[in-house]
Amino acid sequence: MAEGDITTDDGVWLANFEEHYLPAVGERMGPGEAPKPNALIHISIGTDKNFEKMIEFYMKFFNAHVVNYRDKRDAGGGRAAFLSWDARDHRFAILERAGSTHAKGRAGFAHGAFQYDSLADLVKLYRQCKAWGISTDHPINHGQSTSFYYLDPDGNEIETYIDNFDTPEECTHFKHWQQYRPGLDYDMGAGAFDPEKMAALVDEGIDEKILRNRDQVIRLKAEGKL
Ligand SMILES: [Fe+2]
Repeated sequence: MAEGDITTDDGVWLANFEEHYLPAVGERMGPGEAPKPNALIHISIGTDKNFEKMIEFYMKFFNAHVVNYRDKRDAGGGRAAFLSWDARDHRFAILERAGSTHAKGRAGFAHGAFQYDSLADLVKLYRQCKAWGISTDHPINHGQSTSFYYLDPDGNEIETYIDNFDTPEECTHFKHWQQYRPGLDYDMGAGAFDPEKMAALVDEGIDEKILRNRDQVIRLKAEGKL
């Protein structure tokens, strides 16, 4: 069958998903239809001993400002800081939670992903982080997105990314039809790249349309340029 809109799917995904990813029928939540949110507006994150470092990290990382701050330590609580990078009242909240612990591979929040305007912006942030002593973790072209990951002072992961296609529909089309599809041998790792080489290619003025194309990334890697 020809690739079409995901609503024309042949059911391969759904059958695989139902079989391997959902609880048994008797354990499911039951019928009902929730309203859909229209955007992801903010993330709140708890921290124990790194409250000040976490605030500084996210103020710098997002070029953000503090909208609000509270201190309930006298009442047996903790502090909280609410940060924003735009007109929203807060985009990121840091909550002081005594006794909360972090361990790599734990359950819970895995990462938040933040979209940027261009690959040049991702590279600019990569270089700024490097100057701050923060290294990127597995930069990669996923096919539909190009991502650089970082860890905050508590070890929480932050993904910074751009869409590789011009529209969300094209990204969704790629993700549905060309990535991890049952029967398709998709090697995600093939899209991993050297951030320094990517930065150099951006400096050279190579068209971002080329640099965010996964096939071109794989070709450039084979040529030793990425
Ligand atoms: Fe992600």
